[in-house]
Amino acid sequence: MQVLIKKHVIQNRVDQLARDINKEYEKKDLIMICVLKGAFMFFADLVRLINFPVKVDFITLSSYEGKESTGIITIKEPLKTPIKGKHVLIVEDIIDTGKSLSKLQEVLLPQNPASLKICVLLDKKIKREIDIPVQYTGFTIPDKFVVGYGLDFNEEFRNLPFVGDYSD
Ligand code: IMP
Ligand code: MG
Repeated sequence: MQVLIKKHVIQNRVDQLARDINKEYEKKDLIMICVLKGAFMFFADLVRLINFPVKVDFITLSSYEGKESTGIITIKEPLKTPIKGKHVLIVEDIIDTGKSLSKLQEVLLPQNPASLKICVLLDKKIKREIDIPVQYTGFTIPDKFVVGYGLDFNEEFRNLPFVGDYSD
């Protein structure tokens, strides 16, 4: 498989993102939310670099079948932590059309968090259908189907330590 983003390049970028998050939320009550399953590896690497007592929670969305989004996003497993009055940072593997993160905002904003921001490892800007502001982005990538570092094709390849191109 063609490597798109090498392991050490990911690690350096995750370090930088963590530094920025540490700076912004240092004195705040922060809950970081991992969007399962795709973000699990990115999330684990990111949260261990956070240098204040952050809380974590997990939410499961689903929309993809094979290489295409079905466009219908469902919450398969909701949050367990109340987020009212708390600062919330959603951590997602990749933003493509924007439908998944838009759905998440729709579900979380009515719970009145103090703030709601988004951190993604990868951004496929070209495919965006819903304009969602993303505050933290690891890498902007071309319109390729990628796997590895948490991302899958039919549940495979999540364990790869790099991001690979699985387009063809
Ligand atoms: P969106 O709703 O179109 O923005 O798609 C975002 C979701 O689709 C992500 O959470 C991923 O689970 C999945 N996804 C989008 N592009 C890829 C890809 O290239 N590889 C693996 N999963 C992807
Ligand atoms: Mg996902």
